[in-house]
Amino acid sequence: MVRVLSCLQPTGEIQLGNYLGAIRRWVQDQTPQSFHGVVDLHALTIPRDPAVLRAKTLETAQLLLAAGLDPNYTTIFVQSHVPEHPQMAWLLECTASLGELERMTQFKDKSAKTEGSFTSAGLLTYPTLMAADILLYDAELVPVGDDQRQHLELTRDVAQRFNSRYGTTFVIPRAGIAKVGARIMDLQEPTNKMSKSADSPQGTVKVLDEPKDIERKIKRAVTDTDGEVRFDPVTKPGVSNLLSILAATTGVADPASLAHNYQQYGPLKADTAAAVIEFLAPLQKRYHELSDDPGHVTQVLAAGAAKARTVASVVLARAKLNVGLLPG
Ligand code: TYM
Repeated sequence: MVRVLSCLQPTGEIQLGNYLGAIRRWVQDQTPQSFHGVVDLHALTIPRDPAVLRAKTLETAQLLLAAGLDPNYTTIFVQSHVPEHPQMAWLLECTASLGELERMTQFKDKSAKTEGSFTSAGLLTYPTLMAADILLYDAELVPVGDDQRQHLELTRDVAQRFNSRYGTTFVIPRAGIAKVGARIMDLQEPTNKMSKSADSPQGTVKVLDEPKDIERKIKRAVTDTDGEVRFDPVTKPGVSNLLSILAATTGVADPASLAHNYQQYGPLKADTAAAVIEFLAPLQKRYHELSDDPGHVTQVLAAGAAKARTVASVVLARAKLNVGLLPG
């Protein structure tokens, strides 16, 4: 059984891209070797309202349960409940180079946005905390959306460097990126990825959106003026995004194969909206059921943290020993 780990940040409302690119694959492939974390420490790279962060952390965990992660198999935990994460992150911060971290696309983009105001040091070292999340669990496979590719490459480089300096310590993980749905784009700006932190409410389908809102957002999605339905993400990003969403939500392996069913954009939009609404309905129903029993989520997270620590503490001890720290 392959050891799997993947996480998400509690930084906003979970959107369709998170679900198609990551969460639903975690659900489909879950085994007793699956670990999934709500990474609240990562969220601190940007100042947050403390009450909102706490609420979002719980809400995100509830959503993972609603999506179908079963705590009888999968370990679901909150990152800050497992103190091995920031400890391991320090060892890896001392293994990654400043240049490597400065070259990360996410750091360049996000620090450009905050330019002139405040850029935290955590924004720069974020990828080493993410590497710690992965390496602490001896994860072999990390199912993520396409935007995490570079972070996975850095994790592999840092793990290999650590192993060659201090002897074999870490399992070298690989990214698992879906063929369809790995990069869902914003409906209003289809050259940008859909994101829970982007300021694009009309371009983002949140998984808990009401059906009428989903329908409105998809019907108003930006397309183009040539009128032909064709899968070509470079010249027709809006139409191709709709075809990708339709394929991913109806279990079709190749979005291009759907194009010939449509002569106009209107019916494509109508079918895509209907497919998304149907696809999200079970998750929404279960989420609202779970809201009646918030104590359940808290219990799942306490058990998850205890289980996560049994694995993470062994790997951290191994890394500390190999790097030359005196056992306490
Ligand atoms: P985050 O919280 O931004 O996103 C969670 C997951 O959703 C995927 N995703 C998408 N997939 C397809 N289309 C989109 N538009 C889209 N937007 C987001 C992301 O690729 C991700 O898989 N750095 C990570 C969190 C993290 C992590 C980890 C992931 C921290 N530690 C360890 C894996 C392993 C992040 O910010 O994801």
